[in-house]
Amino acid sequence: MEASVTVSREAPEITRHLTAADLEASLARDVAEGLGRMPKTLPPKYFYDARGSELFEQITTLEEYYPTRTEESILATHAAEITKLADADTLVELGSGSSTKTRLLLDGMRSTGRLARYVPVDVSESALLGAIESLRADYPGMAMHGVIADFERHLGLLPREGTRLVAFLGGTIGNLAPAQRARFLAAVRSGLGPADRLLLGTGLVTDLTRLVRAYDDNSGVTAEFNRNVLRVVNGSLHADFEPEAFDHVAVWNAEAEWIEMRLRSQKAQTVRIADLDLTVEFAEGEELRTEISAKFRREVVERELAEAGFTLEAWWTDPQEDFALSLAAPS
Ligand code: AVJ
Repeated sequence: MEASVTVSREAPEITRHLTAADLEASLARDVAEGLGRMPKTLPPKYFYDARGSELFEQITTLEEYYPTRTEESILATHAAEITKLADADTLVELGSGSSTKTRLLLDGMRSTGRLARYVPVDVSESALLGAIESLRADYPGMAMHGVIADFERHLGLLPREGTRLVAFLGGTIGNLAPAQRARFLAAVRSGLGPADRLLLGTGLVTDLTRLVRAYDDNSGVTAEFNRNVLRVVNGSLHADFEPEAFDHVAVWNAEAEWIEMRLRSQKAQTVRIADLDLTVEFAEGEELRTEISAKFRREVVERELAEAGFTLEAWWTDPQEDFALSLAAPS
């Protein structure tokens, strides 16, 4: 059993399945594992400390980074239809972050007169509290129950009240490797009843020049975001990575159909990770993979959903077909 504590602050209920100590322990494990293999890797989930979350918010406003505004425009155009089809009274949002796109869905649900509850789920307590605070005044009758959790580990523990629309937006599913993705979708499926629905945001395979530029912007914000993961490792595990000694690289992997972000070592260097009692050597030009961001085709989304026990009920895209929203029902 995992420990969990429910704290009732003034109004919002917050359930915590994940503590700062849990996060540090999983970071230690993942860093030891990822830097111990060849090629070296680090999982993307550790980008998002306070500075990393801020840099990501900045990325979403860049001219080159189209996914966020494209997804938002699809939501703005189709929220009424999405929420009517889903016919839910509870919105569960996985990886809710700043909850900006959430309002479009909440407004759609409110117009059906059934909106009862919003359940944001995120690893970041500050993001959850901020989101809840900013929504409270605008949705006075709505209950909010924030859950601090890792969506790869705690899906079985989410609140089950109401008829739920589970939203996983932003294309974040693309940051999971195929096997992780299959596990994740199966875990979402096993927590849903027949009337519940999944709303999934996915980036699509599109113009490759634009796609790569979205991950390698001219102002260097994505490069800073990428290097920030080294700062996170330095801060949490007493490591001495020199972030400026690594170059940002974004490449399209045509076979896997994903963008890879890497950090390329500018020189031969040795990094000490004191808390792991680990010394890691980098050759000049050696690349550390820090993120995959898979892009999809409709058939792939449909197949992966089906393999997890879902039927694709509806599919919405922007006119350029850069991004898609899928509504999926338990099969
Ligand atoms: C958080 C999944 C939306 O993969 O596009 C942005 C993260 N990485 N720029 C993505 C990211 C580099 C992003 N998502």
